[in-house]
Amino acid sequence: DWTMGAYRDDAIAKIREQVGDKKVICGLSGGVDSSVAAVLIHEAIGDQLTCVFVDHGLLRLNEADEVVSMFRDHYNIPLIHADEKDLFLGELDGQSDPETKRKIIGRLFIDVFQKHANAIEGAEFLAQGTLYPDVIESVSFSGGPSVTIKSHHNVGGLPEKMGLKLVEPLRELFKDEVRALGRELGLPDHFIGRHPFPGPGLAIRCPGEITREKLEILRKADAVYIDQIRKHGLYDDIWQAFVAILPVRTVGVMGDGRTYDYACALRAVTSVDGMTADYYPFSHEFLGETATRIINEVQGINRVTYDITSKPPGTIEWE
Ligand code: XMP
Repeated sequence: DWTMGAYRDDAIAKIREQVGDKKVICGLSGGVDSSVAAVLIHEAIGDQLTCVFVDHGLLRLNEADEVVSMFRDHYNIPLIHADEKDLFLGELDGQSDPETKRKIIGRLFIDVFQKHANAIEGAEFLAQGTLYPDVIESVSFSGGPSVTIKSHHNVGGLPEKMGLKLVEPLRELFKDEVRALGRELGLPDHFIGRHPFPGPGLAIRCPGEITREKLEILRKADAVYIDQIRKHGLYDDIWQAFVAILPVRTVGVMGDGRTYDYACALRAVTSVDGMTADYYPFSHEFLGETATRIINEVQGINRVTYDITSKPPGTIEWE
């Protein structure tokens, strides 16, 4: 795509001009936006860029390994892998209130990011994958509704707090343009087309108390569900799909034995921007097959339900 090629060259020139010979820190989430920003900035200034990837222990199956190997081994981008699982899971232990959980994660994330970023000597810039809709939203928010539905996990305010200047090379782009730019930069298709994943991660898909056991079960069930969706060629028709593990165990029967295991809910929605959403109309055949696979392949789950709530009145995530 020649237009994206031109955009990329122009963006690279602007980054070089803004940054000069100074160092830049970029927080990588594993999502599309921060990944595209990181690869673009790395093309512009090479090893003046260091990425910080915070592993809060709430990521999906193999996610940390995939992010680290792609950026460090494939792109050769200097990367700090901040393994802070014990810290996050420790502080979340025993907490079941959704807002409390979100606030703990948000606060720790900023602390941890700052700690690791401070170790990068002489950094003057912080890179963020802010998109055009984020720019507009933060302006219109001031006149928007005053009810907070969910405390959003973001790192707004961090640059000022750390005394860093912002580099935001995606500020003029919409999501589909960021994806096109990512392709232009050689990011793999399966990565570029990935469903959005929230900052607080699996915490908001595990209503009630978070335990390592529940997270393990949730990761496995989610992987089977996404595998089913990909195998049936439905992944790109869906805005977001995931499993939530419910804070309840129910009785079942397997072979000639009784089981007493967790129930889970499958979620899949279509949406344009995440603000409103409809549940995805899977066939009963697909749902039945998926339920059977999850129960057979994931120890710890013996009941599968499908969430048919639209947004509004529901939200996409469970917390
Ligand atoms: P809800 O659950 O509010 O989610 O309908 C709408 C969209 O936002 C994502 N989401 C988040 N993304 N930090 C994020 O970066 C968050 O704290 C957060 N909470 C929800 C959610 O996955 C969906 O795409």
